[in-house]
Amino acid sequence: SESLNIAVIPGDGIGPEVIAEAVKVLQVVTVNTGVNLKLTNYKLGAEHWLETGETLPEETLTALRSHDAILFGAVGAAPGDTRIPSGLIEREMLLKLRFSLDHFVNLRPSKLYPGVPSPLANPGEIDFIVVREGTEGPYVGNGGVLRAGTPHEIATEVSINTAHGVERVVRDAFRRANDRPRKHLTLVHKHNVLVFAGHLWRRAVEAIAPEFPEVTHDYLHVDAATIFMTTNPSRFDVIVTDNLFGDILTDQAGAITGGIGLAASGNINMDRTAPSMFEPVHGSAPDIAGQQKADPTAAILSTALLLDHVGLPELARRVEAAVEGDVASRDEMTDPRTTSEIGDAIIAALA
Ligand code: NAD
Ligand code: IPM
Ligand code: MN
Repeated sequence: SESLNIAVIPGDGIGPEVIAEAVKVLQVVTVNTGVNLKLTNYKLGAEHWLETGETLPEETLTALRSHDAILFGAVGAAPGDTRIPSGLIEREMLLKLRFSLDHFVNLRPSKLYPGVPSPLANPGEIDFIVVREGTEGPYVGNGGVLRAGTPHEIATEVSINTAHGVERVVRDAFRRANDRPRKHLTLVHKHNVLVFAGHLWRRAVEAIAPEFPEVTHDYLHVDAATIFMTTNPSRFDVIVTDNLFGDILTDQAGAITGGIGLAASGNINMDRTAPSMFEPVHGSAPDIAGQQKADPTAAILSTALLLDHVGLPELARRVEAAVEGDVASRDEMTDPRTTSEIGDAIIAALA
């Protein structure tokens, strides 16, 4: 039997609640498949920092590298929680993981499943993926403050875009487009204002396009992309974009496909030099934490992305099918269910 060695980081808020369900799904779907599932828990996040002062110790990062993949819940404090500096855990733990493990493809699929209500009156068919760059852009922490606290304070946050970083994610997006029936790629940027980075992204797309002669491609400024995501999301097949635009667009993409509680993601190291990490798009949701109100579906669908990545696509399809069945049967009569009731229903469909 083959072993599947998964690190689990439940994190804060609803993270542990949704990850408990995702873990159950992984356990059930691997039963009698010859896959020997081994789960190792790592306590990290805002609560852990309050207890220990640790964000992501070097030994923990080293230990995480030994796993086949990482399953991650969410981290982060409530906005009003003054005990924890805003951004500390996000930057020194979550982004540090994405950067250290070279998760250059932040894959965020968006699909409106049959029977799932969209807030759009005429959603049409929605089935696209966002390939969000994961290791560069304004996220790198290249910035600072001059004349702090004075009326002349200057704050900078410099967006870093390297030819290597842009080309590898653009090529990945072309590859994914090439594997999909519609074979269409949309670059989303803002090259009318962000001329230097915008130019680099455009050149990368034009330079790589000939490698994929069957893939058509177009371009949208990010502001216009938000319009079409509301008025005509069917036009999208694969979107490739930078780290910050991709962050914003994928919350909107989650909203139009039935809510952020359904949106899964993978932080993928396509070179496989380090483990990839799978997590719901949403955060720790302090407003509903500890109440069993969170939808675990996004975390569960993230395990399907994980199973795909580790070479178990038939198990991934089983998880997706179980979710698809559950979301199709949701209605006012059965919901709101608790987090674990939704997890149990999906597991029942799996078995
Ligand atoms: P959020 O995604 O946590 O919550 C936004 C809204 O969506 C809230 O109303 C919440 O109740 C709802 N929601 C989120 N997940 C849900 C689910 N599974 N089921 C039902 N409703 C759900 O975003 P936020 O409020 O901006 O951030 C809260 C904290 O989480 C912050 O500290 C932020 O930095 C952090 N965060 C972490 C991650 C991550 O770990 N990957 C992602 C986003 C935000
Ligand atoms: C996400 C989150 C993170 C991001 C934050 C918490 C650093 O919003 O995973 O979408 O901006 O990437
Ligand atoms: Mn986000």
